[in-house]
Amino acid sequence: MITLGIETSCDETSVAIIKNGELTANLVSSQDFHKKYGGVVPELSSRAHLQIINPLLKDALKISQINLEELDLVSATAGPGLIGALLVGLTYAKGLALSLNKDFIAVNHIEGHIFSGFLMPEKPEFPFLCLVVSGGHTLLILVKSYGELIKLGTTIDDAAGEAFDKISKLLGLGYPGGPKIQNAAKTGDENRIKFPVSDLKNSFNFSFSGLKTSVLRYVQNQGGLEKLDQQHISDIAASFQKAVIKALIFKLESALKQFEVNSISVVGGVAANSLLKEEATKLADSYNKKIVIPSLQFCGDNAAMIAYRAETLYNSGVKHKLNFKPFPSLDENSFLTSERL
Ligand code: KG4
Ligand code: ZN
Repeated sequence: MITLGIETSCDETSVAIIKNGELTANLVSSQDFHKKYGGVVPELSSRAHLQIINPLLKDALKISQINLEELDLVSATAGPGLIGALLVGLTYAKGLALSLNKDFIAVNHIEGHIFSGFLMPEKPEFPFLCLVVSGGHTLLILVKSYGELIKLGTTIDDAAGEAFDKISKLLGLGYPGGPKIQNAAKTGDENRIKFPVSDLKNSFNFSFSGLKTSVLRYVQNQGGLEKLDQQHISDIAASFQKAVIKALIFKLESALKQFEVNSISVVGGVAANSLLKEEATKLADSYNKKIVIPSLQFCGDNAAMIAYRAETLYNSGVKHKLNFKPFPSLDENSFLTSERL
C-alpha cells in the first residue's frame, strides 16, 4: 500500500509518501516571505503553493523510489485552513486521483495533528488525551480509537499559537511568534510579572484573550514598547509564556483526573515549545502515563500526518468522492472527516 499525502492549509506546502507503513518522504517547503508582512497573506500563500507543489511531488517520488502509477491512495487536507491555499492542494490531489484512477481521501487537518504522534517510534496508546495546540486551534480531545474522537474543550477566543503570535508582534519580536517568544523567554524572568491565567470553571475550555489584554495593558502602563529595554521585553515574554503553558497544563490535568486514559499526546505547532514539553512530561510522569510529543518535523504542518490519517480512514472503509469541497473552519458538529459524508 502506497499513500500520497498533500498539505497546503496555511503557509507550508508539504508532500509525503507512506510505503507499506514506512514514511519514505515528508518534504516541507515553508513560505518564509510572509515574515515581512507580520502574518500569512492568503493570496500570496495560494500562489506559492501552486508554484512549489509539482516539484515537491517529483522529489518525494524520487526519494521514495516509486512512480506516480504505483500510488494506491491519494490524500490531501480539505480543511480547516485558508480557503485558497486548501483549494490548491485539494484540487491537485483530486486531479491526480482522477487521472491515475486511484482512490482519494480528504483529510481534516486537525485529525492529522491528533494522530501525528503515531509517526513517532513510541506511539500513543488508546484511549489517550490529546492537546491540540496550533496557530488556529486549541482543543482537548479524548481519543478512544481511530474513529472515536470526543471533543472535551476548545478555546472560546484566541488559539494558543495565535496568542503567541499576537504578543510577539506587540513586543516587536516578529513572526512566527512562538519561536520568537520562546527564544526571548530564555533570558527572561518568568516570575517578574504575574499575568492572569484563565480558568473557565466546570469546563475544559480555554481563553487567552484576557491574558493578551493584560500584556497589552502592562506594556501601555510602562509607557509603550519604546520605553522597555531588552531585559524587560524578555521578562514579559517569559511571564507570558509561563501563563499560557500553565493554562494548558491546568486543563490537561483536570481531564486526566476525570478520564481513564493510557497516554497523553501534545500536538500541533505549539507542541514545539520546550516549556510546554517539559511541563506536559512532568504531568504525565506524575500520573504514570505515557506521553507522546511528536518531533519538530511532525509538530508543525506536514503531509506525513495527512497521509497517515488518510490510511487509517481508508483501512476503516472510507473513500471520498472527487466533489469533496474544502472547508475553511472546523465544523463543530461533524468533527471527523469520515462523518462529513
Ligand atoms: O500547527 P501549526 O504549524 O499551523 C497551524 O495549523 O496553525 O502551528 C503554528 C503555530 C504558530 O502560531 C506558531 O507561533 C506556533 O505554532 N509555534 C510555537 C512554537 N513554534 C511554533 N508556539 C510556541 N512555542 C514554539 N516554540
Ligand atoms: Zn496545523
